[in-house]
Amino acid sequence: MPRRTKQPLDALVSQEEIRPLYDRLSSMYDVWGRLAESRARARAIELAAIKDGQAILEVAVGTGLAFFELVRRNPSGTNRGIDLSPGMLARATKRMAAVGHDNYSLALGDAFGLDIKDDSIDTLVNNYMFDLIPYADMGRILAEFRRVLKPGGRLVLVNMTKSERLGPRIYARLYRMSPRTLGGCRGIELGDRLEQHGFRVEIREVYQQFLFPSEVILATAEP
Ligand SMILES: C[S@@+](CC[C@H](N)C(=O)[O-])C[C@H]1O[C@@H](n2cnc3c(N)ncnc32)[C@H](O)[C@@H]1O
Repeated sequence: MPRRTKQPLDALVSQEEIRPLYDRLSSMYDVWGRLAESRARARAIELAAIKDGQAILEVAVGTGLAFFELVRRNPSGTNRGIDLSPGMLARATKRMAAVGHDNYSLALGDAFGLDIKDDSIDTLVNNYMFDLIPYADMGRILAEFRRVLKPGGRLVLVNMTKSERLGPRIYARLYRMSPRTLGGCRGIELGDRLEQHGFRVEIREVYQQFLFPSEVILATAEP
């Protein structure tokens, strides 16, 4: 009998729902962000290895938890943060008031169509967004990321990931029962897709915090 292969869990919350969902979640997002995601996010900032003077873009900047740290390290560079949700951006704007300089911008924007020139970004950071995106659409976003990054530029990604360990299985079950409770995030693995869209994966690490599994990836844009 042929072996049945397990289908990956696809997005159960539509793209149209993401903006209002995150507008609603924005006031409590930081509690979750600190409880379950802070280790992976801190490692992503480390892997971004920011040198002052770079062109940095964070897509899906959320409430600015990572953006604050990136901008702090890049006072004379270019720092842009975009997100779909005005509620999340309002929180990020409040947070950034304490960063110590105003060399940054925060704006509404969509990962599917970046208003940014080709080959212009040194480092692109994108945390906990691909886990909201249907598998069929991920390639379009990766092509946008590759377009705006300079050859050799760094792509730093964090996503909820999957595995057969207990924590990930509990979250997968919860997602099937109530995907909006988890903010629409389910466990994914991005690795092969990155290679198919012109990136070389340099580092992939998995962190589990509060039983919540995150993958942290550093990839570089192939010339
Ligand atoms: C789980 S939150 C993560 C926020 C932030 N990156 C962090 O790690 O704290 C997901 C964010 O992705 C944003 N988002 C989802 N789809 C997006 C898209 N297509 N373009 C830009 N932002 C998007 C949501 O509005 C939300 O702020």
